[in-house]
Amino acid sequence: MVVLTGAGISAESGVPTFRGAGGLWENHRAEELATPRAFAQDPELVWRYYRWRRELVERCTPNLAHHTLADIESTLDNFLLITQNVDDLHTAAGSKNVLELHGSLWRSRCTQCRKTWTDRHTHLPDPIPACPNCGAMARPDVVWFGEQLNDEILNRAFGAASQAAMMLVVGTSALVQPAALLPQVAKQAGAYLVEINVEKTPLTPISDLFLQGSATQELARWWEENAPGSQALSLHVE
Ligand code: OAD
Repeated sequence: MVVLTGAGISAESGVPTFRGAGGLWENHRAEELATPRAFAQDPELVWRYYRWRRELVERCTPNLAHHTLADIESTLDNFLLITQNVDDLHTAAGSKNVLELHGSLWRSRCTQCRKTWTDRHTHLPDPIPACPNCGAMARPDVVWFGEQLNDEILNRAFGAASQAAMMLVVGTSALVQPAALLPQVAKQAGAYLVEINVEKTPLTPISDLFLQGSATQELARWWEENAPGSQALSLHVE
């Protein structure tokens, strides 16, 4: 089983989605701030945005949907969780085999020597943090619009999608590439596609099962009905 998650899975933990209510920061959209161009023009503004996100996410804990995915992983032999989220809530819930497509809010990276390090600071001493290795300007270790995703992570994600028997897609608008391609690749390769979202998305028409509702409720109910031993899962996975 391969799972793809987006911001909607963390919404009930209190993390605002990007394209929903509360997704703006000081009237800026993510697409305006999460770009190399915005960082080149005003690194302090971009760092303030990410500090705001860190402060916000620091107060959030995993919800039932994150925990259910950790439970599914502990039950199935072959499981990969691919997330577009940078909040680390899947790992906090106990998920182990997690591919972070868009990086992590809790890592920084040097703009010069490219060293990366865990960085859990929310109140940073300087407006723009420096690399502990070479002193150059640091940046959040997240993938910005217009940047390439990590090749190895991308290959693993597409490799898994093309071999999946089932793909579960939870809480993503499916508007941002290349992540939104993963369910299509899985479907084309024969996977059974289950989508959970409060509203329809471009993926809904190709989904085999669309569960409309909140991630916590729908995922927990789906797992209750489909955990090993039940006919539904053995029908689609075996
Ligand atoms: P979006 O904000 O685009 O979409 C969130 C999705 O979650 C929407 O389809 C909502 O309908 C759905 N949703 C909201 N609340 C939900 C709930 N309680 N249960 C289930 N679904 C719910 O977020 P992403 O699709 O994750 O990238 O956005 C993809 C990428 O665009 C992000 O990783 C980020 C963003 O800009 C970068 O920053 C690089």
